Amino acid sequence: MSRSLDEIKIIPRHIAIIMDGNGRWAKERGLPRTEGHRIGADSVSEVVEECGKLGVEFLTLYAFSSENWKRPKREVSALMTLLERFLKTKTAEMLEKNVRLQAIGRLHDLPKSCQEQLHRSIEKTSQCTGLTLILALSYGAREEIVDGIKSLLESVEKGHLDKAMIDNDIFAKHLYTRYYPDPDLLIRTSGELRISNFMLWQISYTEFYVTETLWPDFRKEALHLAVKAYGQRQRRFGAI
Ligand code: FPP
Repeated sequence: MSRSLDEIKIIPRHIAIIMDGNGRWAKERGLPRTEGHRIGADSVSEVVEECGKLGVEFLTLYAFSSENWKRPKREVSALMTLLERFLKTKTAEMLEKNVRLQAIGRLHDLPKSCQEQLHRSIEKTSQCTGLTLILALSYGAREEIVDGIKSLLESVEKGHLDKAMIDNDIFAKHLYTRYYPDPDLLIRTSGELRISNFMLWQISYTEFYVTETLWPDFRKEALHLAVKAYGQRQRRFGAI
């Protein structure tokens, strides 16, 4: 057993990760940014596998934000190709490791072939009962909240919902994340102290962990450190 597994006693039920620093990782090595993303995909595989082994139930990865569409066309295209290839080549491994794939975000914005592959992988892994891997794709928390409000209004207009009944729980049922518990632990790599439009509603009581490690270097030992730090936090949810 890995030494870094010592002392891990409390496992977060849901881990969310802002995977950052791929570009800097590549720049430090004189490589194109896309190389950082390519090696970053290897970190994704390793972290997914390790979360499954640790008994984490949900892992949400911020893989492509609503704002990422503003990047140069070539980089966006390389990221979409990488995502599609990842799904194509890793679905068998997900099945073998009992990983159920899900996705949140404005998925209809993704290139058609990417959407099709995503839905194929989701369908193929739908019976898996281990880790649920949720990819946030073309995801923005403000967009999610706006979409949630539209969905609520529609329910009220159709007479399925009484306006007076709307509370936190009912609103949460209109978000992309309605099937999942809120994250217990949010990890951000590469040292930036920002939320970057990620899960604004869901992280109200989530524990934050920021590491200087760049995403392509974030492997199982780094994950163990984050989980260990989480185990030392006292969560009071506003109570005393
Ligand atoms: C942030 O690094 C990373 C992204 C915008 C994309 C994340 C994508 C991957 C980890 C690879 C593919 C994902 C899957 C699920 C296969 P950055 O480019 O913003 O880095 P920088 O801040 O150093 O420029």
